[in-house]
This record gives sequence, C-alpha cells and structure tokens, in this order.
Amino acid sequence: MTAKRLDGKALADTLRTALAARVAARTAAGRTPPGLAVVLVGDNPASRVYVRNKQKACELAGIRSWLHERPADVPQRALLDLIAGLNADPQVHGILVQLPLPPHIDEKAVIDAIDPTVDVDTFHPENVGLLAAGHPRFYPCTPHGCVQLLRHNGIDTAGKEVVIVGRSNIVGKPLALMLMQKKTVANPAGGDATVTVAHTRTADLAAVCRRADILVAAVGVPKLVTADMVKPGAVVIDVGMNTVDGKLCGDVDAGVWAVAGAMTPVPGGVGPMTIAMLLENTVIACEQLDG
Ligand code: GUN
Repeated sequence: MTAKRLDGKALADTLRTALAARVAARTAAGRTPPGLAVVLVGDNPASRVYVRNKQKACELAGIRSWLHERPADVPQRALLDLIAGLNADPQVHGILVQLPLPPHIDEKAVIDAIDPTVDVDTFHPENVGLLAAGHPRFYPCTPHGCVQLLRHNGIDTAGKEVVIVGRSNIVGKPLALMLMQKKTVANPAGGDATVTVAHTRTADLAAVCRRADILVAAVGVPKLVTADMVKPGAVVIDVGMNTVDGKLCGDVDAGVWAVAGAMTPVPGGVGPMTIAMLLENTVIACEQLDG
C-alpha cells in the first residue's frame, strides 16, 4: 500500500484564492484592506524563511504586511513598546511575533502585550482560554491547518482515536483541544474525537501510536515515527519541520508511506496550510474590527 498524499500546498492555494476574492470585494467597496504586522527578532535562518513565506502569501491575497526587524540583542522594553505602537495602529489587524525569541526576552510578556483582538496566532492567554472554553475568537494556525486538511480530504474525525505526539503550546495542546471538542455553531472545527496526547515521558510510545486512526506527529524530532508505530491504513499528519543535512524533513519516517492510508508530505503538507490559516485569521480580525 502507498498512502494517499494529503496535498496541503494545493489546498492552501485554493483557500488563499478564495480569501483574495473576499479581500478584493472589501477593498472594491472602499473598505480598509486587512493588514498584518510581522515582528522578527534576530537572525534565525528558519524564522527568516517562514516570515518571508508568510509575507509573500499576504501579498498574493491582497493583505498588506509590514516587517519589523530587530537585532537579537533588542531590549525587551523596546519590543514591548513596538507592540504597543502596533496595537494602536488602525491599519494593523493582525500582529505576529515570530517565535522563538532570544533567551533574554520573556516570551510570555511579549505575547501578553499583544492586543487579543489582533492576536492572529492565537497565543494570547485570553484567546487560548476562549478556545479551551469552546468559543474561539480565532483558531490557532497550525492546528486549524491540520483540521482543514482532514476535512477537505473527507476524513471525518468524529468518534475516531486520535493520537497527538507532542504537547507544545503552538501545536499539540491546542490541536488536542480542537479535536476533542464538540462541533457546534460557535466551534465549527470541533472534532468530536477521542484524543490521546503523547510526549517525552509517555511509556511505550509505539504502542500508544498504534492505537491511532489518526496520528499527528508534532515533536520536532526527525523521523521519530516509524512504520512499526502506525496502524495499517491510519491517517498520518506530519507537522515536523526539521532541517537535516540542509534538507527539510518531518517527524515521520518515509517508511510510513507504505503502511498509512493517507499522509501529509513534508514539505507541501501542513506548512502551507499554517500560512493559509494565518491569512484567514487576519481577514477575520479585519472584518471584526473594521466591519
Ligand atoms: N514559530 C513556529 N511556529 C510559529 C507560528 O505558528 N507562529 C509564530 N509566531 N511563530 C512560530
């Protein structure tokens, strides 16, 4: 068996085209175009690539974007002042501070400083709380990208055994919340699944993974998930973005293609979907703030 390829790039392109039409209709009606402010601190090469891709996608969708670059030794106070200025700017509907930040910066203080109504990453505690309570203001970008990839490929999550490997604030934790929650009008991405979150302290990770109808790898360990850890026919979502010998590779070993029923490639799977969901959040924020 070779798994069906879940093409995130193609789906992200389709979703972005639809968003571009939504933005074009609003600008044609004389309304403010959506705007995203991106803050990049230091010179992490991966972060630089991600930020460039996000800005390119904004441009294609008719969303304005501004890059605010600061050196790795920027004082925390200066970063907080920058965010305060962006919060007050009526042209800015979304603020994204690319993570990770240098060690001398308190990441939590920076996230807390972002106005929750423009927190298009869904990292602010108010937005995490709304998500946890089943009344999300925004959905977090990477988890939402995973959910949309499943939905648009006709993969129902209701009643399924989902195993998520990884408990990060960016992916594992919010994705677990989304997939376990009831689907409601207020929470249309609720997955109604039975969710297990595995992590570094999980005993017999392979046995836990083999329970999964849908297995999500989001740990940042190259090729951690191998064929013997996957139930034949399972759906495998690879969120990993690792660089090995200068090449991008996921958390799932290539041998899994022979066992899984469907799987996301890296690159071209979850990555482009994350960006599409960021654009959607920016447009939603703009509509919520500016009508
Ligand atoms: N670093 C890794 N993933 C992300 C993301 O989704 N948003 C931001 N801001 N930083 C990241």
